[in-house]
Amino acid sequence: RLTCVIPAGGVGSRLWPLSRANAPKFLLDLTGSGDSLLRATWDRLAPIAPPERVMVVTGTSHRDSVAEQLPELLRDNLITESEPKDSSAAIGLAAALLELRDPDAILGSFAADHVIRGDVLFQRAVTTAVQAADQGYIATIGIHPSHPATGFGYISCGTARGDLAPFDVYEVTEFVEKPDAAQAEAYLADGGYLWNAGMFIARATVLLDQMAHAEPELVRALREIAAAWGTEQGAAVRERLWSSLPKIAIDYTVAEPAAAAGKMVCVAAHFDWDDVGDFASVANLLTRGRGSDLAVLGDGAQVLSDASSGIVVSETNRLVALVGVDDVVVVDTADVLLVTSKRRAQDVKNLVNRMKVTG
Ligand code: GDD
Ligand code: MG
Repeated sequence: RLTCVIPAGGVGSRLWPLSRANAPKFLLDLTGSGDSLLRATWDRLAPIAPPERVMVVTGTSHRDSVAEQLPELLRDNLITESEPKDSSAAIGLAAALLELRDPDAILGSFAADHVIRGDVLFQRAVTTAVQAADQGYIATIGIHPSHPATGFGYISCGTARGDLAPFDVYEVTEFVEKPDAAQAEAYLADGGYLWNAGMFIARATVLLDQMAHAEPELVRALREIAAAWGTEQGAAVRERLWSSLPKIAIDYTVAEPAAAAGKMVCVAAHFDWDDVGDFASVANLLTRGRGSDLAVLGDGAQVLSDASSGIVVSETNRLVALVGVDDVVVVDTADVLLVTSKRRAQDVKNLVNRMKVTG
């Protein structure tokens, strides 16, 4: 009964200049496996849902790349948006299409740009979340936090809900999206908070009705677009309504209010999860469990290193030589050379914002 939705949008500006408007984070191979994050997401979901029940929502400009990376994806399940409107619109549109196909359908939304290790544990967590969704809850998956990150949602877990599933399910008493640094420190010290893994599992109708409390116009428009989808007027209706939709993340329109209303549960995860948000995360992922402190990413990368650590990402055939530099980040692409440190890797985003171009 579960239909998986993969929202694939956003550029991933902290990974510039590797991640660009035409090569967003989800289309990149950040693990050196040869597969993009999107492809890996598809493969992870394959044991959970057949292709008929996996949808991808992405920008029109990424349509061809997505289709190429996912040849199994059905044409009707590749949903495109003319303009990015963040995750409420992307996931909401999939939900609106789904509730028309099946009023009891359960939707699971899985971010396109994470690295997960431990597929069986992942499947078990999703199965548990589906059981909770079947009881009318909005379920999310929680990760034990390792540091006071400010880029995640924080979930306060209350009483265990052994009645919903034997293990690992908790009622959510509070959901706070992207707290400031001081709040994040406090949540970590408290010990009762988990990071939101960016996955939401609920009946499509439950999700939309919850969203409608915060954004009634948005949900009305999404349902109107869905009703016309595939008809002669379908494209025109979407064109007319899409550009005026509010650009807002689902964490604000659904997760925070659902938690406050006691309608959310959290499944504590036991799998390895990483959102690979910046080059420091990419470096850590690549060096973990290996002898070297220097990560190298890129097919033709040529690196000469003496007593250096950090990461070199290369899309050129230029030799990158490092002598005695610690935690360095070097990203060499055809038109841009970025040099920073692992410590300041998050701040690449500020630079990109300053340039106002990521193309
Ligand atoms: N189609 C489409 N269109 N997808 C989008 C859009 C859009 O305009 N904007 C975002 N997405 C997709 C992203 O590709 C990703 O798969 C998912 O929606 C989440 O969006 P992000 O922009 O990556 O969100 P975030 O990382 O800042 O925060 C979310 O994920 C964290 C975990 O990585 C939140 O859910 C946090 O609470 C969570 O901790
Ligand atoms: Mg993200």
